[in-house]
Amino acid sequence: MDIKRIGVITSGGDCGGLNAVIKGAAQMANSMGIETVIIPNGYAGLYNLVDFDNVTVLTPERLDLIHAEMAGSEAGNSRVKIKKIEDENKYDRIKKGLEKFSIGGLVISGGDDTGSVMVDLTSQGIACVHTPKTMDLDLQTYSVGGDSTINRISEMIKDLKTTGVTHNRVIVLEAFGRYAGHTAFRGGIGGDADCILIPEIPADFDVIYKHMKNKFIFRVENSDVKAGTYTIVTAEGMTDAKGEVIVDESAGVDAFGHKKLAGAGKYVRKRLEAIMKEDPEMTEFMKRNGIFVAGVYKLPEIREVTPGHLVRSGRSSSYDVNFGKEAGAAAVILLTKGLGGNSVVNVRGTKITYMPTAEVIKQRRVNLNTVAFYETLGVCFGRKPGEFKPELVEEKGEIEREF
Ligand code: F6P
Repeated sequence: MDIKRIGVITSGGDCGGLNAVIKGAAQMANSMGIETVIIPNGYAGLYNLVDFDNVTVLTPERLDLIHAEMAGSEAGNSRVKIKKIEDENKYDRIKKGLEKFSIGGLVISGGDDTGSVMVDLTSQGIACVHTPKTMDLDLQTYSVGGDSTINRISEMIKDLKTTGVTHNRVIVLEAFGRYAGHTAFRGGIGGDADCILIPEIPADFDVIYKHMKNKFIFRVENSDVKAGTYTIVTAEGMTDAKGEVIVDESAGVDAFGHKKLAGAGKYVRKRLEAIMKEDPEMTEFMKRNGIFVAGVYKLPEIREVTPGHLVRSGRSSSYDVNFGKEAGAAAVILLTKGLGGNSVVNVRGTKITYMPTAEVIKQRRVNLNTVAFYETLGVCFGRKPGEFKPELVEEKGEIEREF
């Protein structure tokens, strides 16, 4: 396909690795004699492109100002679903914008909603290749943002332990991730959290409380200075015993029309506080260890921390910069080969793997066998531990890995 100029779009929630995608795409395009421009602010910019006076061209000088290691996106994001725009000429308007700036194809970085719009645009005859992006990690393929967020969550948990142990508090960290628990799970494991609550497992508070009480008491009573903490990572989309997502309805909906999730950390704290209040053994524990002060300090405190957007801000992990550059660059190659409608899966040496975007955006949730594995290692997932049945597989042939 003879493309002289491509546009780069980043869409949906921002996260680590997006600037690497932009850089990778533009650097590969430059090496092929193709110009890259930024279409600003996601699909909002695409829809309004026709009214723009100019677009930013990613010349080597401009590219040098984009820092691949920074999270967020130099292109800007929005949560605009083209299908939802009440304008019967919306696709013509988009095509006119692309024609105006001689843009022959698009590299679009985003998650499931972005991907579904990309499938929609492809069916309208617009050449687009998708690079997977979401900190929620709920696509079929790896997506930039996941590793950066996991690292952020695990660092926060590690940091929170210092204040937790100093005050003998139980810490509950609520992490973004929507309806999949991948980042809470892996971030929690990375930070060596005691308990991880994910949407995939309806939370049983009797199990959580028992685990918390035993670990907390064990730590304090094994400490020569009577200090201990207990850490819980809860996914924002955690589910109650009935399997329903805990949502503070006052949070409203986003531009894609999804409920904003909020309130999981507070819910966990309140449920545990209520059980602890009725447990005389906790008061005895406080007295036995010289912590109890009548009328002032009767029970250990439970505190929730809601970092919100901090889990996807700041810097990108090195893994995301690597994957982002590879995915962005590979997307340009797919575009020039007429392979619109696909998502980049990965790049290994000369091999670029891709998959139809309509498949890639199907939701992937946490594997409960992996949960059972970690339950065997003592982590609580808010249920009676599942049975871990190891399956031994002998690898035959070459193992495809880069490091
Ligand atoms: O989908 C990515 C994500 O970070 C979710 O985990 C979270 O629920 C949501 O975006 C928050 O989005 P916003 O920045 O629009 O509030």
